[in-house]
Amino acid sequence: MNAKTTVIPKPSIDISAIPADFLWGVSTSSYQIEGAVNEDGRAPSIWDTHCRQKGRIANGDTGDVACDHYHRYLEDIALMKSLGVKAYRFSTAWPRLLPRGRGAANEPGLAFYDRLIDATLEAGIEPWLCLYHWDLPQALGDLGGWTNRDIAGWFADYAALIARRYGDRVKRFATFNEPSVSTIFGYALGWNAPGVADRSAYFKAAHHLNLAHGAAIDVLRDHVPGALLGAVHNRQQVYPSTDTPEDIQAAALLDAHWNLVFPDPQRFAAYPALVARDFEPYVQAGDMARICRPLDWLGLNHYSPIYAKTDPASQLGFAWGSAPTSMQQTGIGWPIHPDAFREELIETSRRYGLPVYVTENGCGSNDAPNAEGAILDEQRVHYLDAYTKALGEALKAGADVRGYFVWSLLDNFEWGAGYGNRFGLVHVDFTTQKRTPKSSAHWYAGLIRATG
Ligand code: FCB
Repeated sequence: MNAKTTVIPKPSIDISAIPADFLWGVSTSSYQIEGAVNEDGRAPSIWDTHCRQKGRIANGDTGDVACDHYHRYLEDIALMKSLGVKAYRFSTAWPRLLPRGRGAANEPGLAFYDRLIDATLEAGIEPWLCLYHWDLPQALGDLGGWTNRDIAGWFADYAALIARRYGDRVKRFATFNEPSVSTIFGYALGWNAPGVADRSAYFKAAHHLNLAHGAAIDVLRDHVPGALLGAVHNRQQVYPSTDTPEDIQAAALLDAHWNLVFPDPQRFAAYPALVARDFEPYVQAGDMARICRPLDWLGLNHYSPIYAKTDPASQLGFAWGSAPTSMQQTGIGWPIHPDAFREELIETSRRYGLPVYVTENGCGSNDAPNAEGAILDEQRVHYLDAYTKALGEALKAGADVRGYFVWSLLDNFEWGAGYGNRFGLVHVDFTTQKRTPKSSAHWYAGLIRATG
């Protein structure tokens, strides 16, 4: 890569802390980049439906075209190769592979991921396949989605299809991306698809998702020799906004739901004590053993800590508070706190006793090209530099972290925020689909060269 327009600072991370086989990567997800929502037999997902509801997404944006990655994947893989990344985490779109969610598979959809996986491998990049990054087939949404206990079996069948088709070439699988976000925002707060705000719907959805995780792990283990299996969790320290007992209690609740309700049962066969009773009505005999299956790694997504406040009117009793005004924030207003990242890495590694991969970290802003067409995203460079420095400190402190994936390769469809929040190392002009590496892409390529 040529860094032609700006001076790219040297990475601050202590290079001696990085093991030689440390995996540098980038992450994306199907609905956020693929587009082609009506092509080659793909059926709608709950996100297609959600985007069509007025007022749900900023600017009325949708994932209909997104980055047109479905047609431009070769260009995108070439971009990854030029960065020097060693691994690529993507997700498969369930409604592209099984348009009705179950039953007949869609051959053109299967063939798309064949091409993507083959080209990734040919570029010398390891494919990391995530089975679920929130785009549930609408046909299953119509049957209650995650609130329907049968979904554990539907998900296991989907996992079997993936294992049989791609298991000869893909060994790294994640069952779910950020289950706490998809269930809390999707079923308790109503912000994300399917837009439900109902306390019992959330508890059902969360428990059934955990059952689906365990069932899929068994299927993948049985079908893919040498499979390395995990799940991706967002974990962030939760601080009370004030020191009132109500805000302290709200922070404890948010912490339990956000950070523990998925990885704890998946690893320890138990819901966190603070909320375990709320799950009891939905837990049947044998469920906890079905959820807790042997795992090989844990994916950690982390951007910033959370500030919580009490909200008796909300379904779960908490709401997001504001960070102290003294704390720096990214362009989209997320607190910048690399020390919290270091502590989270140490704590996640210690608590779960699995090799940790940072499967997402990155900086959102609304960067635009300058008069020369360059995107000088200094804030993202500083953010990534500070966070990778903290990663080096965590490694030195003994955290078992094996890799780090930037969110994201490309600017993309950022859920409720539409195209206004850009997280890419590579800028996308959504009118022309032109890709332009930003300063941060050059910086990341330099970091990989220096440590690799
Ligand atoms: C995470 C999501 C990912 C992206 C980033 C910014 O919560 O997993 O899809 O939206 O945040």
